[in-house]
Amino acid sequence: MYLFANWKMYLTSEQTTRLSFVVGGYDLPKEIEMVVFPNTLDLVHTKKQLAPAGIAIGAQNVAWVEQGAYTGAVSAKLFAEVGASFALVGHSERRYIFGEDDEAVRKKIEACLEAGLVPVVCVGETEDDKKEGKGEYRIKKQIMKAFEGLEIPKDGNVMVAYEPVWAIVGSGTGEACDPADVGHMHSVIRKEIESYIGDLEVPVLYGGSVDEDNIKSYLQIKGVDGVLVGSASTKQDTLFALVEKIEEHVKQKS
Ligand code: PGA
Repeated sequence: MYLFANWKMYLTSEQTTRLSFVVGGYDLPKEIEMVVFPNTLDLVHTKKQLAPAGIAIGAQNVAWVEQGAYTGAVSAKLFAEVGASFALVGHSERRYIFGEDDEAVRKKIEACLEAGLVPVVCVGETEDDKKEGKGEYRIKKQIMKAFEGLEIPKDGNVMVAYEPVWAIVGSGTGEACDPADVGHMHSVIRKEIESYIGDLEVPVLYGGSVDEDNIKSYLQIKGVDGVLVGSASTKQDTLFALVEKIEEHVKQKS
């Protein structure tokens, strides 16, 4: 089970250091693969703090260009060089607040693969899409643009996170998505991915208002390989509660 913690820009540098110190002391069961996505400035020292717990680090965003005169950009290659293993690509806050389109998302996926990072491609419908009955259409389009004709290196991999834009805390309504709808979308997503990249095992996560009270309802769904959590992963108590719930779920299953 994957537990991906997207700390976004919620924490100060000092709070990041404090939370990383606690998380670095976790004794995670081998069934949980945890990745933390801290702010870019704190990424290097967070990596050092989390290494003892076997927790990997990811970038919240990458530039697709590799090197050169690109003021303010941080390339996938640079993130890889300082020890990141994953990168979120196409997060809805990047798409809808910072105006990233499907073409930019595709270039970032390619840059990640080239640099040896695993891109975690975020897809999801907006509230308007949902109202207009265009949810599946939006997701299929995002997946096609991301994966059609994509060459994945032999030792590379990709992951997908289904995150309904409206379900995200802060940038959406923060209203949780019905687990039955998550199950349906996950099966749509899997079918679409398969049609573009065949039998490569692509983990698909769910994200959007996941907390300690609802996490189990998502983990139980067939096709959900883990969760991508924002808000609830930025506080010591709720993050630890999420870990405990995943452990319980894994134990109940075995
Ligand atoms: P949330 O964010 O858990 O705060 O809703 C999830 C995400 O945006 O990745």
